Amino acid sequence: MSYLAFTFILLMISFKTPFMRCQNVSCNSTDLRALISFSNFIELGLDWSSSEPNCCTWTGVTCDNSTISSRRAVRLELGAKKLVGKLSESLADLDQLRILNLSHNLLQGYLPGKLFGLQKLEILDLSNNYFVGPIPGGSDLPLIRYVDISKNGFNGTLYATIFETSPHIQVLNLANNYFTGEVSASFVSCYYLQHLFLDGNDLTGNFPESLLQLRDLHTLNIQDNLFSGSLNEGISNLSNLVELDVSFNRFSGILPDVFESLGKLEHFSARSNMFYGHLPKSLVNSPSIITLDLSSNALSGIININCSAMLHLSSLSLGANQFFGPVPESISSCQRLSNLNLGRNNLSGEVPYAFKDLQALSSLSLSNASLVNISSALAILQHCKNLTSLFLGDNFHDEQMPRNMNLHFRNLKTLVIPHCGLRGQFPIWLGSSKMLQLLDISLNQMTGTIPSGFHEFKFLFYMDLSHNSFTGEIPVSLTELEGLIRKNVSEERPSLGFPLFKARNMYKQISSFRPTLDLSYNKLSGLIWPSFGNLKELHVLNLKDNHLSGNIPDSLSGMTNLEVLDLSQNELSGEIPLSLEELCFLSNFNVSNNQLHGEVPEKGQFPTFPCTSFIGNPGLTCGLVAYSPPAQTPPPPPPVVFPSDKMTIMGWPFVFGVPTGFVITVGFCFVNGWIFPRPEKRKVRVTRIGR
Ligand SMILES: *[C@@H]1O[C@H](CO)[C@@H](O)[C@H](O)[C@H]1NC(C)=O
Ligand SMILES: *[C@@H]1O[C@H](CO)[C@@H](O)[C@H](O)[C@H]1NC(C)=O
Ligand SMILES: *[C@@H]1O[C@H](CO)[C@@H](O)[C@H](O)[C@H]1NC(C)=O
Ligand SMILES: *[C@@H]1O[C@H](CO)[C@@H](O)[C@H](O)[C@H]1NC(C)=O
Ligand SMILES: *[C@@H]1O[C@H](CO)[C@@H](O)[C@H](O)[C@H]1NC(C)=O
Ligand SMILES: *[C@@H]1O[C@H](CO)[C@@H](O)[C@H](O)[C@H]1NC(C)=O
Ligand SMILES: *[C@@H]1O[C@H](CO)[C@@H](O)[C@H](O)[C@H]1NC(C)=O
Ligand SMILES: *[C@@H]1O[C@H](CO)[C@@H](O)[C@H](O)[C@H]1NC(C)=O
Ligand SMILES: *[C@@H]1O[C@H](CO)[C@@H](O)[C@H](O)[C@H]1NC(C)=O
Ligand SMILES: *[C@@H]1O[C@H](CO)[C@@H](O)[C@H](O)[C@H]1NC(C)=O
Ligand SMILES: *[C@@H]1O[C@H](CO)[C@@H](O)[C@H](O)[C@H]1NC(C)=O
Ligand SMILES: *[C@@H]1O[C@H](CO)[C@@H](O)[C@H](O)[C@H]1NC(C)=O
Repeated sequence: MSYLAFTFILLMISFKTPFMRCQNVSCNSTDLRALISFSNFIELGLDWSSSEPNCCTWTGVTCDNSTISSRRAVRLELGAKKLVGKLSESLADLDQLRILNLSHNLLQGYLPGKLFGLQKLEILDLSNNYFVGPIPGGSDLPLIRYVDISKNGFNGTLYATIFETSPHIQVLNLANNYFTGEVSASFVSCYYLQHLFLDGNDLTGNFPESLLQLRDLHTLNIQDNLFSGSLNEGISNLSNLVELDVSFNRFSGILPDVFESLGKLEHFSARSNMFYGHLPKSLVNSPSIITLDLSSNALSGIININCSAMLHLSSLSLGANQFFGPVPESISSCQRLSNLNLGRNNLSGEVPYAFKDLQALSSLSLSNASLVNISSALAILQHCKNLTSLFLGDNFHDEQMPRNMNLHFRNLKTLVIPHCGLRGQFPIWLGSSKMLQLLDISLNQMTGTIPSGFHEFKFLFYMDLSHNSFTGEIPVSLTELEGLIRKNVSEERPSLGFPLFKARNMYKQISSFRPTLDLSYNKLSGLIWPSFGNLKELHVLNLKDNHLSGNIPDSLSGMTNLEVLDLSQNELSGEIPLSLEELCFLSNFNVSNNQLHGEVPEKGQFPTFPCTSFIGNPGLTCGLVAYSPPAQTPPPPPPVVFPSDKMTIMGWPFVFGVPTGFVITVGFCFVNGWIFPRPEKRKVRVTRIGR
């Protein structure tokens, strides 16, 4: 038997070709024509060879298993292939198509109208392209289950009867386009819709009533639109909701007390609206909620979270409201709480002693909450062993920064305590916080020298000590920060459970801060160390308004990623080194009000800098023009006015890392082989909360 079988197999192998021939049914000629026409509209990225007539073998094309007549194309999957071009009307001739995936490409133009008439289509993914125009009207997709056209330039209204004939649709993602107008009743017929994303558009009107009929709805995201009115009590109908995001709209009124009916709700965000009134009882007793973000509203009353009921609460953000009373001690019983933001409320008093029990706590913001006693706050919070990010700015006014060497924050990665007018010296107890990545203690009144030993902070990449009264030299160890020397110093940036900033549509996380050393507005003296040139990964160096003297070292040209260099209002002498012409990303340069002389360099980025970058240097000339000496009294430094690129949200002033458009002088930098950064693609995208 085995011998026979063996012979049979041998035969099969040797006669492979004739055997295969029976299977070798080529692709249907209609499909072949449609695909060739499709490929004619794609300018780049497609490697189809039209000399191979069996289109079933082409990249991304899958045919059915028909062995009788010709094979039909049932899937066209060309996601993330860098395709450039437009869509041909002929796609609509692929009438057996079940899956069409052209996502993550560079395709543009209007969609062919007939595309939305493919009777067999189940999955349509056109997300992340540059398509424009309206969704074609009169859509007829009876079998469709999944539609993702997010992150394009689609516009027009959703009035049209889209998807009215699509009863099986489960996922509909229209996010991050330019849709306008009110949401029509047409969704009513999508009985099985489970995930609906309308976020990042310009939709208006009240909360869409038609959605309240969708009993299976699991995810509803209408974030970042222009919806207004109050949140309909009818949302209690949506008993299967797991995620509800209505943030960044214009909703107002009180939050409906319906959360008892939403027994599966895990993530609720109503951030940045105009809700007022107290926290609904059913919300603060919800056993299902994991993340709750109600920050930036006008909510008031006391914070009465019931930790005995909210057993899964892991992230709570109530910042920037009008809650009052003491910092609620009872929150310390929420054993799973990992992110807590109560900043910018009308709270008062000290950090409760019981907060030491928050053992899961990873990020805490109590900025601008009228707190007192920083010594006790730090002594308590050091017991939260998992704490990585701590924001306490705008509190403790005029208190003393503790010098208690028994403070240990071993896992701390971010410490932000600006704008407190704190006296005393640099917090040397931070010596045990070896994981530190970001430190901001600007806008205080600290004195004394900046300690040495920074080389031990392997991951530090952002330090703002500006607007204090530090004296002495810049510690050389600051030029040995590994996190600013090598790119591969990889320690995960802490991710906060609550967003730091909102620039339309964008939450800034720690990882998006530009590597920065800001020592401006202090009383530092001595030299700018040549070893600063080692800091290849530094993007912002601000030494403005100190008493630094000596030359600008040639070697600063080693900071090859530098975008901002501000050395103004010091006592620097000598010439501006020609080597600085090599700093290709430098877009903001200022050496005004020093004692420099010689000529201003003419190459590199220098022609793009305004005269004000050089004024107040009696000996400095630029071609024939001499920079005039400063007016008799130099403009007084603005002590508490934030520099223009600083922004205050939730009471944390930070340098705001939007690359202010790289001004790249083609000549010099191009010759040096720089690769140009790709410009930001359309709108900035949303990072969703709770992920
Ligand atoms: C069968 O398919 C193979 C590979 O796909 C191809 O090289 C061959 O020419 C086809 N034969 C016929 C008869 O179409
Ligand atoms: C073809 O048949 C195989 C085996 O029966 C099956 O796994 C595959 O999904 C089929 N392909 C299509 C496109 O129907
Ligand atoms: C190709 O498909 C079309 C449309 O379904 C059909 O009319 C035609 O007969 C098919 N061609 C072949 C060769 O099977
Ligand atoms: C479409 O293709 C992209 C890239 O290959 C992939 O990430 C995505 O999951 C696909 N979409 C669907 C719905 O499968
Ligand atoms: C939609 O976008 C297209 C292309 O950008 C534009 O021509 C058209 O005016 C827009 N329509 C609306 C209603 O905004
Ligand atoms: C809630 O569901 C009920 C029963 O299906 C329905 O009659 C009612 O209209 C729904 N409420 C809203 C506000 O849509
Ligand atoms: C807090 O929750 C527990 C458990 O659900 C409940 O027994 C208690 O009554 C609640 N307390 C308040 C003040 O609602
Ligand atoms: C803040 O709370 C205090 C008392 O706790 C009250 O006197 C004051 O009016 C409140 N301020 C605001 C702006 O609500
Ligand atoms: C503390 O953090 C670690 C690592 O992220 C985690 O495994 C642990 O569960 C956390 N502790 C608590 C009490 O949540
Ligand atoms: C701060 O708290 C500590 C410890 O609770 C206490 O000893 C100290 O007196 C407090 N300081 C002030 C200024 O209230
Ligand atoms: C980082 O890169 C340097 C040189 O490129 C290499 O010597 C070092 O081992 C790398 N470190 C890590 C942690 O990958
Ligand atoms: C602190 O909060 C108050 C309102 O509670 C606000 O007016 C003020 O601007 C905030 N301060 C900062 C620096 O954000």
